[in-house]
Amino acid sequence: MSCDFLARAVPGVQKLSPYVPGKPVDELARELNLDPAGIVKLASNENPLGPSPKALQAIRAELAELTRYPDGNGFELKSRLAARCGVQLNQVTLGNGSNDILDLVARAWLAPGLNAVFSQYAFAVYPIATQAVGAQGKVVPARDHGHDLEAMLAAIDADTRVVFIANPNNPTGTWFGPDALERFLARVPQDVLVVLDEAYIEYAEGDELPDGLDYLARYPNLLVSRTFSKAYGLASLRVGYALSSPQVADVLNRVRQPFNVNSLALSAACAALEDADYLAASRQCNDAGMAQLEAGLAALGLSWIASKGNFIAVDFARDAAPINQALLQAGVIVRPVAGYGMPTFLRVSIGTQAENARFLDVLGQVLARG
Ligand SMILES: Cc1ncc(COP(=O)(O)O)c(C=O)c1O
Repeated sequence: MSCDFLARAVPGVQKLSPYVPGKPVDELARELNLDPAGIVKLASNENPLGPSPKALQAIRAELAELTRYPDGNGFELKSRLAARCGVQLNQVTLGNGSNDILDLVARAWLAPGLNAVFSQYAFAVYPIATQAVGAQGKVVPARDHGHDLEAMLAAIDADTRVVFIANPNNPTGTWFGPDALERFLARVPQDVLVVLDEAYIEYAEGDELPDGLDYLARYPNLLVSRTFSKAYGLASLRVGYALSSPQVADVLNRVRQPFNVNSLALSAACAALEDADYLAASRQCNDAGMAQLEAGLAALGLSWIASKGNFIAVDFARDAAPINQALLQAGVIVRPVAGYGMPTFLRVSIGTQAENARFLDVLGQVLARG
């Protein structure tokens, strides 16, 4: 008889469900025999503009070197990030996407008997990273779908090593302001690491959100994680980064895989960082798309959670699964969030003007059918 390898997995892993990504276009095309060119995917909070031409050029220039390992220290990208963010080189950690950073944190500071605090409806990778190393996730009830920082503070106990907070949060799009962050950081025990996940910050800069970098010098227990997957449009290459105290960065560097960021990602990220026009276009496209979706949803009599990300969680006030199914049949992929405990919602990423219009049009037809 064959061995039950699930039963032999470490207890935290046994209780995990695999992360469910947005359905790929080709998968839906195969399943429903649709033309991939006619499918609209608004399911993974991807940048709808296509990559920056400067990033593409950098990738092409790098191709001839594919037989070589990448620079394991990521010197060039780290230098540029340090200069951009006003920190020292030894405060930057690169990750294979910012998910890698979250995983490194869990591996460095969490273990059985210890816990991480995070919010209900928080990004799905926090429980995965926490449970995978056998630690406990302490889930704090959300308030109006957003993080209740006061309650999260109260949930910290002697076994808490990490608090994960996302601003804005995915999948809700909720956010908190500078005062709330300051009050929180000032009272978190200094030996608890606060991971401030700013995956979507470029969509909200200059807005009502704090900039995590402003707090780094005063709070050595703060780690700010960011990514090139969203506003910089490089999701497929997998490159993210953390900014922290040198000591926190040193610990992460000890558990990091030697070549965790590949050479195409390193060079494309360097180029994307310099492409201010692309970043501005990303922001502009998102602002316009958000306004377009909000107007369209309002016209359909729907409600949603106000969002500062590149996505919006729409509330259908009934089981959203059949609506999702009908959208798929029509070639529109959005994201069900029942796995987050939000079965009446669908999360819709902001697309191009045409993609948003298609989604609204199809949704209108689906709802009209009842
Ligand atoms: C809140 C949040 N953090 C982190 C990530 C991870 O992104 P990546 O690993 O592509 O950097 C995501 C991706 O959707 C996210 O929504």
